[in-house]
Order: sequence, then structure tokens, then C-alpha cells
Amino acid sequence: MKTSCLIILIRDGEPPLIKGWIPFIGKALEFGRDAQKFLEEHKKKFGDIFTVQIAGKYMTFIMDPRLYPNVIKHGRQLDFHEFANKVAPITFGYPPVINRKFPGLKEQISRSFQFLQGDNLTSLTDSMMGNLMLVFRQDHLDEKPSRGGWKTSNMYDFCNSVMFEATFLTIYGKPASTSRHSGMAMLREDFVRFDNMFPLLIAQIPIWLLGQTRTIRKKLINYFLPHRMSCWSNGSKFIRWRSELLQQYDTMRDVDRAEINLSLVPMDYRNLKQVFIKEQASSLPPHRPYAGAIDLLYGSTLPSSKLYNPSKPEKEVVETYIVDSLATGPPLAHHFAILWASVGNTVPASFWAMYYLVSHPEALEVVRQEIFDVLKLSGAEFSSNKDVKLSREQLEKLLYLESAINESLRLSSASMNIRVAQEDFSLRLDSERSVAVRRGDIIALYPQSMHMDPEIYEEPETFRFDRYIQDGREKTDFYKEGQKLRYYHMPFGSGSSMCPGRYFAINEIKQFLCLLLLYFDLQLEEGQPRVNVDYSRAGLGILLPASDVRFRYRLRRV
Ligand code: HEM
Repeated sequence: MKTSCLIILIRDGEPPLIKGWIPFIGKALEFGRDAQKFLEEHKKKFGDIFTVQIAGKYMTFIMDPRLYPNVIKHGRQLDFHEFANKVAPITFGYPPVINRKFPGLKEQISRSFQFLQGDNLTSLTDSMMGNLMLVFRQDHLDEKPSRGGWKTSNMYDFCNSVMFEATFLTIYGKPASTSRHSGMAMLREDFVRFDNMFPLLIAQIPIWLLGQTRTIRKKLINYFLPHRMSCWSNGSKFIRWRSELLQQYDTMRDVDRAEINLSLVPMDYRNLKQVFIKEQASSLPPHRPYAGAIDLLYGSTLPSSKLYNPSKPEKEVVETYIVDSLATGPPLAHHFAILWASVGNTVPASFWAMYYLVSHPEALEVVRQEIFDVLKLSGAEFSSNKDVKLSREQLEKLLYLESAINESLRLSSASMNIRVAQEDFSLRLDSERSVAVRRGDIIALYPQSMHMDPEIYEEPETFRFDRYIQDGREKTDFYKEGQKLRYYHMPFGSGSSMCPGRYFAINEIKQFLCLLLLYFDLQLEEGQPRVNVDYSRAGLGILLPASDVRFRYRLRRV
């Protein structure tokens, strides 16, 4: 009989297992094409809990959002950092932070996140306001108006150029003698080229298979060379604190060495063997594929006496070597990772919020009026000739704007919350259900399926700017089968892996939209088709638009 998948029920209490026909790859290809559709189809067949083999990993999906709290609270048995510690270093090019050579580094890095929140958010928000205004004024407000006063642009490019630079200035600071960094357009271009490869890097495709990506990444990392950064001023406390911390751990400043060895980490035995075969290295010892591949790729970086130690399995020796040599990388790559974290999602999120507002003029007018009202309440007179400043407190009062942003995040975010089981145990999900989990298994939540559930969100495909407002306040009650949900909006992840930059992100998107709405009349150009999402980074954060959209804008007469 022909079926599209293999189902094997194993061990008592384990969920149904769905395997593909292709060994190792499993269901990765189908999942990658459209994760949301894939999961919904499997939910219909197998219920709320099922395991899928994806790229050699067993991932158990918990689809019912009423069960989320029980996964999120299992911090000890279901760990996020094990996964992050594997994937982030190979993507961004820094040594794993959980490493016996760096005791305490992970905890210190987590401590640095306090500088994005609490009282620190006020100065960060003020600084972002100034930088946004600077970029906005120099690039868009002081420009000569064209005939009829309207100018046109691609919306994504517009968002990217403003948000990328203003965020960069806020997080890292400005150069010594001018207010803006030279080469920002080039940096942004390189960033986009790297970002296009991001899903492949996260999927642990070796960087050397991805064309120029390694060179581009190196260029991006080198933007943060110490002699450069030491001249920048007005940067965030967050980066200052992290620079000092990382310097302490920086035992060897050899960028190249870290770069070279990093690329070996994702390669499991199979990958290295493939390299070996691909390069037809028949002269190298075939019974030593690890060593052979390493020799071939990087020259004899591995001390052969260590490698050919007959008392230890080769795999173990090589892995130890790789981890040890990685423990000596520089902090620059961490700064680059933060650049990605701070703009990789914020730019597309700003785009979607702008796109939905501009394509819903009635919503845009309500939000614009709210901004004017909040300014008026604080006695500030707005004039398009003057710079505007919106404080953290004022931004907090913009409920309709916040609801519109949350609604656009609901529609565009597709992050996956991943936890790795630290031991074999039975995960209790509610009073009736528990699942047997094996050490090393991945438990995954996929909040996009909740965001698009018609029972929780009526007409989930529709943008309703006031969906998160009820009786003039923030609406927090959303239900599934009569049960109030604790987690109903999760663009920023959950529990131990929740985004530490979330408050800053919402504030900066608000500030950006405030400037747009206060200073400009905005319209989509006639005949623009509806913008669809590109699913290629499903699971990784905010989805990109499949195409850009033309819009026009002109200075408002206020
Ligand atoms: C982590 C989303 C903006 C800094 C995360 C995660 C998500 C996320 C889903 C968790 C990843 C996971 O579970 O694997 C977003 C979205 C943003 C945004 C949707 C914008 C709309 C920012 C900004 C910053 C930032 C502006 C910093 C200025 C970070 C950092 C982490 C992170 C440092 C890693 C935390 C850790 O290792 O524990 N973000 N983020 N994010 N985000 Fe954001």
C-alpha cells in the first residue's frame, strides 16, 4: 500500500511518530515548504501531540495552546540553551558560550539583557528617538519635494534604511567626528546577503557550501574591530557592558583561527565524511574520514599525534579538539550576533506594521489621531518644521498603535519555541495527558498555528488594528474551547528563551510609525497587489514579504 509517510508507535506513552521516506532528512523538505500548513495537516490526522523526524532530529509538536504553560514551565528538564548554544555559534561565528573554558559566561551574557529593559529602557528609547529623527530628517524630511509634493519608494527598502541605521546608532553608538557612520549602505547590503542565508545556516548547512557567505560574515564581524568600536560614542550601556565582559573572556584574539574552526562544529560525522568523498580525497585515509576532511579543508590543523591516538575513538578526539579550539574566539562575532538580533526581526516587523496601516487608511487615521492626542495631552505642539520627541511614557499611552503593531506581529511572526529534553521523563501536559519524552528529543511549540486559529482569533487572516483593545484598554482574554489562554500572542518566544529586546523593539517600531504618521501623508501606489509572505524562514521569527510594495508619501501640512 502506498502512503505518504511511515507511522511507527514506539514505547508506551510516546506520541505518534511521523517519518519521511528519505532517511535522515525525514519530513524536513515538506516542513520547510510551509511549516504552518504541514503542522495543521498533521494535527488533523494525529491530534494535538505528534513527533516528526526532521533532519535527523525527533521533534514533538504540542499544538494545543492550552498545553503551552506546562511545556514552558519545565525549564530544568526542557532546556533552551543547549539548542541555542549549538546553533548560534555556527551561524554567527563565535565559540559556544557554554564551554568549560568559559565558566560563567552564559550567565553573564544573560545578565547583560537587563540593559535592554527596566529603567535602562528609558535611555535606550530616548536615544532611539534622537537617532530616528536624525536619519528621518536628513534622508526624508529635508529632501526637496518633488512635483506635486509626492515621492515614491519601495516600502521594505524604506523601512530597512531607516530602522537599520537608527537601531545601529542606538545600540553601538556614532563615530567620533560625525553623527552617522560612513558605509552604512554597504553594511546593510552585506547584512541582507548574510540574512538571506540565515535559514540555511540555522539548518546547519556548512558555511563553505554557501558561496560568499563566509567572506561576507567575516566582513560583517570585522565591522566591530576594537580599534573601530573604541572611537564610537553614545552607544548603549548594553554593548559597553558586553564589550567589557567579552574582553575578559577573550583569551586569544585570532579571528581567523576562530573562523576556520567554527565551520567544523556543525559537521557531524556524516557531513565530514561527505566533504571527504566530495573532494575525492582518495589519498587520505578512508578509515579516518574526520581527520581526512579536516586535513583537506584546513591543512593539518589537527595535531596528528592527538588525532591518531588509538586509545580513543576518532570521533571523540576530533570533537574535543574542535570545542577546545573554539574556546579561543574573539568577542567581535558576538557584536555581530547582536546586530542580527536587533534588526533581523525588527526591520520586517516595522515593514508589516507600516504595510497594514497604509493599506487600511481608516485604521491609520485612528492611530494618527491617537498620536496627536497623546502629544496634545502633554502640552507639546507638533509642527512639521520641528523635531518631535516621544518619551517612553507617551509611547506607553498609544494603545491603538500598540494593538496595530501586535496585530501585524500576529500575522507575520512564525517563530518556533524549541526545548531539548535533558532526561527521559514523562511530561505532564494537563490532568489527562502526558507524553513520554526521551533525552535529547526536541519539544516544539509553533505559535503561528495559535495565531491563525479561528477559534481564538475570529477571521484570523484579516488585519484588525483594534483586536487587542477592549473597552478602551488592552484586551488580554482570548479563549480556546472555553478556556482562557495564558499564552495567546507569542512573537517574542516564551519562558527562558523569550526575547530580551521585546520592549525596546515595540518602542522603536512605535517611534518609527509615529514619525511616519505625524510627518507624512501615506498611500499605496495604485494597482499594487496584496503582499504575500515568504515562508522560507518559517520557524525563525518574522517572515519577510515575498515582494516589495510601492508607496507614496508627502509632507503633511500641519
Ligand atoms: C531572542 C523575537 C527584536 C535581542 C529572540 C527570540 C525571539 C525574538 C522569538 C527567541 C528565539 C528562540 O526562542 O530561539 C524578536 C522579534 C523582534 C525582536 C519578533 C522585533 C520585532 C529584538 C531586539 C533586540 C533583540 C530589538 C535587541 C536590541 C534578542 C536577543 C535574543 C533574542 C539578544 C537572544 C536571547 C537569548 O539568547 O536568551 N527574539 N526579537 N531582539 N532577541 Fe529578539
